[in-house]
Amino acid sequence: MSAGIKVQSPRLAGTVGSRRAMLETLVRHLPMVRLRVPALLALVLAAGCAGQITTPGGSDDAAVAAAKAKFTASVQPIMDGFCGSCHLGQANIDFLRPEPDPRTQMLAWDGLVRLDAPPTSGLLTKGAHSGPALTPDQSAVILDWIDLEVLAAGGEPPADVETEKLTPQPGVNTLDLGPIGLTGSSLSFLYEPLATGMYLSDIQVTGGTGGVHVVNPLFVIWNEGSPEPDPINRFGNIDLVVQEGLTSYVGGGTAVFVDVAPTSDISVHFRVAELADGTDPGGGDGGVVGGGCNNVPAFTSAAQPPLAASCGNCHGAGGQTNAISATDMTRIADLTAEGQAAACAQVKTRVNALDPVNSGLFLAPDPNSGTQHPFKFATATDFQNFRNAVVQWINQE
Ligand code: HEC
Ligand code: HEC
Repeated sequence: MSAGIKVQSPRLAGTVGSRRAMLETLVRHLPMVRLRVPALLALVLAAGCAGQITTPGGSDDAAVAAAKAKFTASVQPIMDGFCGSCHLGQANIDFLRPEPDPRTQMLAWDGLVRLDAPPTSGLLTKGAHSGPALTPDQSAVILDWIDLEVLAAGGEPPADVETEKLTPQPGVNTLDLGPIGLTGSSLSFLYEPLATGMYLSDIQVTGGTGGVHVVNPLFVIWNEGSPEPDPINRFGNIDLVVQEGLTSYVGGGTAVFVDVAPTSDISVHFRVAELADGTDPGGGDGGVVGGGCNNVPAFTSAAQPPLAASCGNCHGAGGQTNAISATDMTRIADLTAEGQAAACAQVKTRVNALDPVNSGLFLAPDPNSGTQHPFKFATATDFQNFRNAVVQWINQE
């Protein structure tokens, strides 16, 4: 895999010329992005006070007033200045038509403003067409407004899900999504330190048990310990479903962060991080958790070594899709306590506790079982050594 880094180098060189521009963007955006969520709440509070004074008995509550104020002050000028020449009056695309007013018209326009997943709103994802693309600045302002509309419609404020921090090493890095409830799913990337920054490439999401659905992965660089969200939220329009056992690039798959210490930790926030079918992994439906092991240490000492050695290359992370969907051992090489608990639970689904030696886990690789399985131990003795080791764990369950 390390060859992958070399392949990336020309692209890296290509980005250096625009470093200056990127740095400027970063400096301009940083305070805005960092203050996004607190600012939202402040706006609602401010509007709440104003509302009490200026519209006594009015029907608008504080959140609606905040959304309207934001639209009038910040969104409408962008629309008028860059989009109005076509979208005010042209038939079928007149989403700025003031009937009864542009905000109401835009909210009613199909797909233009998506309160269920704001970063995926058509307004933000349209990009360059007969008209211009919104700049990152403009997109950030509009996203703030849409977040306020979510609150105004009685929705929840943006609730980011955050991964644990990772100290990236040159080469492949993997952020486990297990701790946020997505067993076996992960986000991985190649990392290359820059003199004053960080270069990430091959950014990919892999679907574990039940697959994964993520919206707007936002990288946060812990520069000297203080969190700095990606100032241009470059994956703001990502709405990605990855089925179990598959892997997909995140957008263009690269990101350069400038003016941060190359040794900084990284974490990733998601607007939405759930199972592929939209189920909340934290929900009590038991689909993800449940079925755990009673004795994970016995699994790690007796079963993990032979399973990792003989089965991991097909059933483990990065193995064969059909092998993983038949028997999932994607966590087998992850020696963290959490990883082993997950691996043990995965393997246990192939164990018959009442008749351990006839478990599916053994029938598949047994050279004398007669099953069609791509891998058989070379000799009966090799197989028995394998089974004797793994059975020590099963007897503890
Ligand atoms: C020069 C004319 C022009 C300008 C200026 C313009 N657009 Fe458009 N826009 C169009 C046309 C034509 C279409 C319909 C064809 C298409 O979808 O590309 C369209 C379609 C759209 C749609 C899809 C609407 C729908 O019904 O799904 C969105 C969203 C959009 N534009 C956003 C914008 C934004 C945001 C701006 C300002 C930054 C903008 N446009 C500026 C001409 C323009
Ligand atoms: C060369 C790749 C490969 C290796 C190595 C491998 N498997 Fe598999 N395994 C597969 C594939 C592919 C499938 C799914 C298709 C099939 O069942 O033939 C599978 C299926 C299975 C199944 C499900 C069978 C069923 O009928 O439900 C079990 C259990 C299993 N493997 C156990 C193991 C064990 C235990 C090992 C290690 C001793 C192992 N496999 C090593 C490729 C492999």
